[in-house]
Amino acid sequence: MTALRVVPAGAAEAGVLSALYEAGFGEAWVAQELARLLSSPGVFALIALDVADEPVGFALGRVAADEAEILSISLLPAQRRRGGGRLLLDALVARCAAAGAAALFLEVAVDNAAALALYRRAGFQEAGRRKGYYKVGDAAVDALVMRQELAPGNGA
Ligand SMILES: CC(C)(COP(=O)(O)OP(=O)(O)OC[C@H]1O[C@@H](n2cnc3c(N)ncnc32)[C@H](O)[C@@H]1OP(=O)(O)O)[C@@H](O)C(=O)NCCC(=O)NCCS
Repeated sequence: MTALRVVPAGAAEAGVLSALYEAGFGEAWVAQELARLLSSPGVFALIALDVADEPVGFALGRVAADEAEILSISLLPAQRRRGGGRLLLDALVARCAAAGAAALFLEVAVDNAAALALYRRAGFQEAGRRKGYYKVGDAAVDALVMRQELAPGNGA
């Protein structure tokens, strides 16, 4: 069980999302760029708030016609393994289904054990592999493409 709750967010929350991104991934995503992304068609954000209404995590998604993708999802390091990632993921899935998407895709680094476990447990299945998709210094890490079918329109 988690005491977190999920609320929708938009371009006005770009600063909060930028701070959450940096804390979660250890690299910057400039607020202005996030605001621009959030102003583009089909893109949406969700923020997880703790009992004091402090933001502790976020998810970004995009719906285009009958397909959707997860752009990013992260919890503050101190907040992980408490169900927040799954809560955000379930809310994102419901939002994409309600918007009419029939399938949800994501890319995840093959060495990201936590994210892989989260997605597999939530029913995502491997749909492909992108060689060298992520650059880590001089090295390159493959991405797995994962997919889940949705029941469009009913939020399930
Ligand atoms: C991936 C991430 C969002 C998961 O968030 P979280 O709040 O820790 O996940 P939850 O507590 O909801 O965990 C749900 C399930 O995912 C799996 N899981 C999550 N973290 C795990 C870990 N470190 N090791 C193994 N399994 C893990 C478990 O099956 C877990 O269920 P359980 O706790 O009942 O065993 C979080 O680790 C994170 O922010 N990572 C950094 C950013 C990132 O890599 N994002 C994904 C990019 S594709």
